[in-house]
Amino acid sequence: MTAKRVRESDFDEETLDLFDGGGVPPAGGGARAETVLAGPRQSGSRTAGGAGRGAKKAATKQAAKASRDRKAVEPKQAASEKTRARKAAPKKALPERKRAGKGESETAAAEEAAASSPDAAAPAGAGTSPAPRPRKKRNGRNAEQLAKGQREISISEFFTKNRHLLGFDNPTKALLTTVKEAVDNSLDACEDAGVLPVIRVEARQTAENRYKAVIEDNGPGIVRAQIPKIFGKLLYGSKFHTLKQSRGQQGIGISAAGMYGQLTTGKPVVITSRTGPRAAARRFEVKINTRKNEPIVTDEREVDWPVEHGTRVEIELEAIHKRGRRSIDDYLEQTAVANPHLELTYVDPGGDEIRYPRVIDELPAEARAIKPHPYGVELGALLALAHESRSRNLRGFLQEEFSRVGPRVADEILEKAMLSPSVKPRRLKRDQAEQLLTGIGKTRIMNPPTNCLSPIGAEELEAGLRKVVEADFFAAVSRKPAVYRGNPFLVEAALAWGVADMGGDDLAVLHRFANRVPLQYQQGACAMTKAVLGTAWKGYGLHQARGALPAGPLVVLVHIASAWVPFTSESKEAVASYTEILKEIKLALQDCGRRLGRHIRQGKRQAEAVKKRDYIASYIPHIGAALREILGLSEKREQQIVTTLTDTLERSRKF
Ligand SMILES: Nc1ncnc2c1ncn2[C@@H]1O[C@H](COP(=O)(O)OP(=O)(O)OP(=O)(O)O)[C@@H](O)[C@H]1O
Ligand SMILES: [Mg+2]
Repeated sequence: MTAKRVRESDFDEETLDLFDGGGVPPAGGGARAETVLAGPRQSGSRTAGGAGRGAKKAATKQAAKASRDRKAVEPKQAASEKTRARKAAPKKALPERKRAGKGESETAAAEEAAASSPDAAAPAGAGTSPAPRPRKKRNGRNAEQLAKGQREISISEFFTKNRHLLGFDNPTKALLTTVKEAVDNSLDACEDAGVLPVIRVEARQTAENRYKAVIEDNGPGIVRAQIPKIFGKLLYGSKFHTLKQSRGQQGIGISAAGMYGQLTTGKPVVITSRTGPRAAARRFEVKINTRKNEPIVTDEREVDWPVEHGTRVEIELEAIHKRGRRSIDDYLEQTAVANPHLELTYVDPGGDEIRYPRVIDELPAEARAIKPHPYGVELGALLALAHESRSRNLRGFLQEEFSRVGPRVADEILEKAMLSPSVKPRRLKRDQAEQLLTGIGKTRIMNPPTNCLSPIGAEELEAGLRKVVEADFFAAVSRKPAVYRGNPFLVEAALAWGVADMGGDDLAVLHRFANRVPLQYQQGACAMTKAVLGTAWKGYGLHQARGALPAGPLVVLVHIASAWVPFTSESKEAVASYTEILKEIKLALQDCGRRLGRHIRQGKRQAEAVKKRDYIASYIPHIGAALREILGLSEKREQQIVTTLTDTLERSRKF
């Protein structure tokens, strides 16, 4: 550091000096040499001299002094001279110095600068500098030529290149993502069909770094015509256009997993499905044409399958299996916590069978699809909805397309929008749509209905947490629904304190869930993490370093349930930090935190009382002995006194 500072100050002084006219050229070339050579008043013969560092310094000091003296006498003149000199200096010199490294490249830059400097009087070696090569003229392409390279990119081609966006960025994660996508689908399908889910997952090793994931459910099955598209076409599904809480949203999950399997092993996805006892079970082999984003059915046949209804998906993929955090085991365990109505069996690659029995024999409350809320609609979407509408007038359109809009609210919106109720929605113009949005903004409209949500519930959440965490204290809260961007959502939180096998210095463990799905990756980017970090845990008796999770034997669980969870990417790993969402999570955490604080304070009080009691108790035998001695009591009497005092102490402190 010091050496660098000295050099920098040397450089500044010298540069100043030069610009002031009394330049002393540096000896060693490099950055300084280049500046000198590029400067307006230097003499080439002086740079070539190779003077020692001491001499150079002395000269520099002298020159600097002269400069200071001059400045004292003619400060203004000196300043303007300096400015002129700076302007006159060839512009190339300084950036070149910055780019050049040390040693040879610096010298080369200096030489180049010298060669290009009009004032430079050919110093030694200057003649050997290579002449700058003329730039080769680039052959640009015109619009027609460019047009030949412009073509549509299919969504599957896009995600083949950007598989990391879907959670397939490494072989370990790929196996987990595949299992997760299939299990999430199975749970959604079972709940949609009103069936208590029974799911079996198997991860089988087929070769080195190759696994087959098999997921089987007792859901409604999939009709024959839909199977190819569901498994062989990205962006195809039943949930994207429906506004209600579900694990899937985008219509990419399972086809992306199949595509990854196909890319890494060349094998198709194998699907067996049966829609009821009277329907035949069918087995499909489906591949995806990534160029066209279209399915290719490579085999289809009827099979014997001793299952009344359900779906079985088999995907072989290049993968690495690991245990511990972010493993399939971890994900399935957490899935069982958030879905106490699920019966789950997992056969791991070692052949071990792990069972997660059902805790609650009841399906969660059914989430119902709702219409979008007017507060969340944007101009483009409003125009598109209007142009597709079958309503004859705006009044009808508003009631038909949006939730919480009845005749009265529709009239109020139109009045505030200064639009006639009889305007035909199919002819709605852009400026009218803007007016309509203004009208919506000015009208008080009830929050969207919340029956599109199906929260876990505080009790169930706590029960789930107790199932997998051994701890002294539990707290859970399920908040009331709130709204972000017109979408209803609800936050639930739970915590376990005094967790076995966690120490006081350990950082808290955070489990995040969105629509009952455990989120394993991108913890740092998630609103839930931000809310935990932003909660003042110190107020509840916990240690917390700045910007860190609280410390202690603590497990925190946060769940967001929403008709549309705003994930930060297609891999659905982190929730975006909408202000409303952050606020709700914090409120839920604070609620649990306050209860934890009371528990910790109570624990502290008890510990102090125990300490005091032990202290007093340690004196009781001495009191007995002293009394015996003073009063000449028998040993038996002394024992009686000790017992009485101990009993009194116990009773008085209510232990
Ligand atoms: N096991 C299953 N049983 C019944 N239907 C299923 C099953 N798996 C998938 N589906 C249907 O296939 C569709 C596509 O599934 P996919 O996982 O690709 O998308 P998604 O679940 O809608 O959204 P996401 O991309 O967020 O997972 C689902 O919407 C659902 O209708
Ligand atoms: Mg899905």
